[in-house]
Parts: sequence; C-alpha cells; structure tokens
Amino acid sequence: MTTDPQIIAVDGPAASGKGTLARALAAHLGFHYLDTGALYRAVGLAMLDAGLDPHHEANAVKTAEILDIDGIDDARLRTDQISEAASIVAAMPGVRAAILDFQRSFANKPPGAILDGRDIGTVVCPAALVKLYVSASPQTRANRRFLELKARGEDVTEAGVLADVVARDARDANRAHSPLKPAEDAHLLDTSNLSIEAAFRAALDVIEQILPPDADRR
Ligand code: DC
Repeated sequence: MTTDPQIIAVDGPAASGKGTLARALAAHLGFHYLDTGALYRAVGLAMLDAGLDPHHEANAVKTAEILDIDGIDDARLRTDQISEAASIVAAMPGVRAAILDFQRSFANKPPGAILDGRDIGTVVCPAALVKLYVSASPQTRANRRFLELKARGEDVTEAGVLADVVARDARDANRAHSPLKPAEDAHLLDTSNLSIEAAFRAALDVIEQILPPDADRR
C-alpha cells in the first residue's frame, strides 16, 4: 500500500503569522518545514550581492537556477530591501519554475512536510492533504510588523508599515503568475483576534481532523 505524502500547505499574506504558525505546527508534528518566501528572498539577495538589478528577468532566472539553497543566511534575508527584491523576482514565471521542483521534492519528504508561502495550496502542492489560508486584517498585520521592527531598533511609523503591507498585498495578489489567493479547498484562519497559542490550537484542530493517524507522528 502506498501512503500519500502528508503535506500541509500554509498560505497567506505578509505578516499574517503563517510562518510562526507553520514552524510551531512542524515542530509539534515532527514534520519538515520550508519557508518558501526565503527562497525568493535568497534570489533577491544573491542578485543584489552580485550587483545585478532584480528587474532583469534573464539574470533573475539564472540566479534562481544556481541558487545554493543550503547556504541561505537567514538574518540577511529579512531587510526591507530584500523584501522588495523578493517581491520583484517572485512575479517572474521563470524564477518560480526554477524553484518549483525543489519545493515539491521537499514537500514529499517523509513523514511529512509543512510549506508556507503564497501558492503552496494552489500551485506547488495542489494535492496537499491539509491547506490552511492564514490571514489577518491589514491593520493587525501592520501593527505586528511595526512592533517587530521597533523591537529591532528600526526607525519606522505604523502608518508607513501599513502602507507597505497594503502595497505588498496588492503586488502579491494581482500578479499574473501564481497570485496570492486561497485554494478552493483551503481552511481559512483569520488570526486578527487570536493569540499565537489560539491560532496554533485552531490550526491543529483542522489538521487532526484530516491527517490519518500515524504511529510515527507525535
Ligand atoms: O513570505 P515572505 O514575505 O518571506 O515572501 C517574500 C516574497 O516572496 C513576497 O513578495 C511573496 C513572495 N512569495 C511568493 O510569491 N510565493 C511564495 N510561495 C512565497 C513567497
């Protein structure tokens, strides 16, 4: 008997809390975890490091094709400059195609994997067993991001962060290729009024109703 890979797709907009949630779920279930946004960020970072313009599609595709995924330095990926470069390269179909196989092989690692991103449930793993679409109001997301940036000592205003969140939503949702949208069979989880713990519980409830019991799983 073959067992379907246990894939959990967690999609949603920037600062929705999906990364925190996906990481916690993966740790709880003993699943592999992949932050797919980090791949697009890594392409943007590699281009800037090489002095290349992220708008140059052929160079972006080449960069994605030779990306050293294991060598990604997480701390350098989280700046505003890299967020911007990532969202430019993420709109290019050639870049998306170049990292698709890596994401799919990762998703099929036993005993299971959780991938978070924008198009996991719709394009990367349309057959995922569980699909969660995590959202929160733009104001809530901007407030969370504002507090995070302030804590890091960055000089930002809440209104400025809100404007960035709204602009990134529009870019991610309106692009032609793999736009941000919930899969038809996704479970919607609005975390606007949920603590991290409550969001985790709600997500786990959904997962436990769908995933087959597995002795290997904690
Ligand atoms: O989740 P994030 O902020 O790290 O994502 C960085 C950028 O990559 C963002 O503009 C959305 C894009 N992205 C994407 O297009 N598809 C994914 N699966 C993940 C991220």
